[in-house]
Amino acid sequence: MFAEFQGISNYQAYKKVFSDRMMLPHPTDPRRLLGNTQREDFLPFLHPLIKRLPTNANIFDVGAGAGEIVDLALYEATAATISIEEPNPLLINGYKAKVKKYPNLRLGLVHEGSVQDLYRHATLNPLPSAAEAPAKNSQDLVLALQMIYHVTPFEKNDIDPDTEIIDALAFLYETMRPGASLFLVYSDDDTATTALASEWYFEKTNQLSKLANFQKIKQARHRILKSGLIAELLAAKFPHNKPRLTCERTSSWIFGSTLEDMAILCLLGDDELSNDQEFDAGKLSIYLDFVKTHAEKIQLGIERRSIAQNGMYRFFQGQIVLTIEKPCQ
Ligand SMILES: C[S@@+](CC[C@H](N)C(=O)[O-])C[C@H]1O[C@@H](n2cnc3c(N)ncnc32)[C@H](O)[C@@H]1O
Repeated sequence: MFAEFQGISNYQAYKKVFSDRMMLPHPTDPRRLLGNTQREDFLPFLHPLIKRLPTNANIFDVGAGAGEIVDLALYEATAATISIEEPNPLLINGYKAKVKKYPNLRLGLVHEGSVQDLYRHATLNPLPSAAEAPAKNSQDLVLALQMIYHVTPFEKNDIDPDTEIIDALAFLYETMRPGASLFLVYSDDDTATTALASEWYFEKTNQLSKLANFQKIKQARHRILKSGLIAELLAAKFPHNKPRLTCERTSSWIFGSTLEDMAILCLLGDDELSNDQEFDAGKLSIYLDFVKTHAEKIQLGIERRSIAQNGMYRFFQGQIVLTIEKPCQ
């Protein structure tokens, strides 16, 4: 069991979970995915933002992944330059290839590293190479899709998730032109299977300080993002450009072919996969235990609707969709 996860790096493990399972292409519809409905559930909120982009728009995608969003939505821009930030080299190459496919799209700045490199530059030692951020007031659309989990490193002792989230969003907001939008999507910690799985993992492995940090970060996301407080916090920082915010919730599902796949997909909530160290394959039997024990809570079952995923396993993954607009002055 889980043989393909033996003796590989965390980056390679993440690719197997994210690109090879979660983002599995749909067999017939290039605008959907087989591995999850998260994208098709948030696209109705993203499409109008793309439709109203000016020609020669600037788009900034952070925690960009392998660029599936290019095929799902960004290809619709009349003409755009896409700047990306992504630490996993295996994914960033996929993103570059996606952009190349479309004559109306062009690659802008590429930062192979963490988003924190771009705004914590002065305090980082050694300085990350080539960490150039887009200029202030330059972007028409900023995407932060399923990546906000990574702005707080939760293995540290004295984490301050409020500051981490606010600093990341203030940095992104600053890169936006008046009239631009920040589109931020993340899994709803109250209903997402991956969040419940991470808590179970920390409990089972007796990593209680990590568990406490994880819960602290969840509460910060709840307070600052889900409740909409970020609009007031950004308004205080940018009194001449007070943002407008909308918050939506979507019901989403994640799919896999086997029960083992569902355990593997729980790794999506694992924060230890953004480096080149050896992957700890022992984690997977703990997640398999989680999936079996909490089947009812995570709504584990076999898909029975007449959709492409019919016959596949699925679990529930609620989602929060935030749009933050910077008004024209
Ligand atoms: C769930 S994936 C989402 C990818 C993409 N945005 C999408 O929705 O298809 C999260 C991404 O965040 C990246 N990531 C990890 N640590 C990060 C950090 N410190 N800063 C920015 N991105 C990070 C991961 O490598 C991964 O590609």
